[in-house]
Amino acid sequence: MIQPPIDLRSDTVTKPTPGMFEAMLRAELGDDVYAEDPTVNQLEDYVAELLGHESALFVPTGVMSNQLCLKALTVPGNEVILGERSHIFNYETGAPALLSGIQLHTLPDEQGWMELPDIEEAIREDAYYLPRTAVIAVEQTHNRAGGSILPMEYLQQIVRLGRAAGVGLHLDGARLWNASVATGIAPAHYASQFDTVSVCLSKGLGAPVGSVMASSKERITLARKFRKVWGGGWRQAGILAACGLFGLQHQMERLEEDHQKAARFAEILSGSPMLEIPRLPETNIVVFKTVGFDLLRLAEIVKTEGVWLSTAFKGLLRAVFHMDVTLEQTTLAAQTVVAALHKEATH
Ligand SMILES: Cc1ncc(COP(=O)(O)O)c(C=O)c1O
Repeated sequence: MIQPPIDLRSDTVTKPTPGMFEAMLRAELGDDVYAEDPTVNQLEDYVAELLGHESALFVPTGVMSNQLCLKALTVPGNEVILGERSHIFNYETGAPALLSGIQLHTLPDEQGWMELPDIEEAIREDAYYLPRTAVIAVEQTHNRAGGSILPMEYLQQIVRLGRAAGVGLHLDGARLWNASVATGIAPAHYASQFDTVSVCLSKGLGAPVGSVMASSKERITLARKFRKVWGGGWRQAGILAACGLFGLQHQMERLEEDHQKAARFAEILSGSPMLEIPRLPETNIVVFKTVGFDLLRLAEIVKTEGVWLSTAFKGLLRAVFHMDVTLEQTTLAAQTVVAALHKEATH
């Protein structure tokens, strides 16, 4: 049994780094419900600029941030076009219906992107008896498609399509940083073309808590109101904002190491005829399937050996690479998965 276990379930499992603890100790604090926390204000200004937007709002989670964005772009009865494998559709507990009274129109997105003609067809014509298409939402990087990167040209085409139809555009950029580091394209270049953007600080950047919504001043004012309505008005949140700022300023470039670990893991797995990797990793996520062996059983076996994988995606196993796992542990984890299957096959 590997000790301590190698936890590859998500990049959210990391603990704050010493630099983050120091930043917390030094953080100037105030009451953010009065917009008086200097560190929160600094983080919001910093992220707004980084994403090329007028304003930003610090919130506890990526789910809240995505939902505030949808709230700001819709009225009840509206419709949102998004991928059937998207986080918003699958893992946000039906919140769009519950919190904004809107319906979701899903399209196939097996590789992470919806086909442009499908989107075009899904946009409703203007008729009193139809729901109004209010938003097209995309995910960068695409979690369930194995951290795949949506190409800039594709995003630009979606934006053009949305603009021509008068439809709002939302970017779930929970892992936008990974896409930026992998491609060298600045976050603002991706994000500024969208009406609303959500980014996470608590994934690859390593902060313990926090996401940020970026948009126009007007929409952020509305989102601030709904953050309060939904119980997310927080007080000396600068203690958390300090970690987020530290992550953005000092732990962004190291995401490249996580991409290398994912590539190493996939390379070792691809040596086994009992494993199939539908898509080679472009960033920090590897999704894979078993061939001729029960997927959940494999996850159980390797867990007893000290390698923790995510089983959250039906029909796929997922390994996510982050700062609390080394390249050596990555190699060991991959070898453990391959050896476990080999052992079962020769049993
Ligand atoms: C693509 C995507 N969007 C949004 C979220 C939600 O983030 P949180 O867990 O902070 O609510 C996640 C979390 O894994 C995600 O992967």
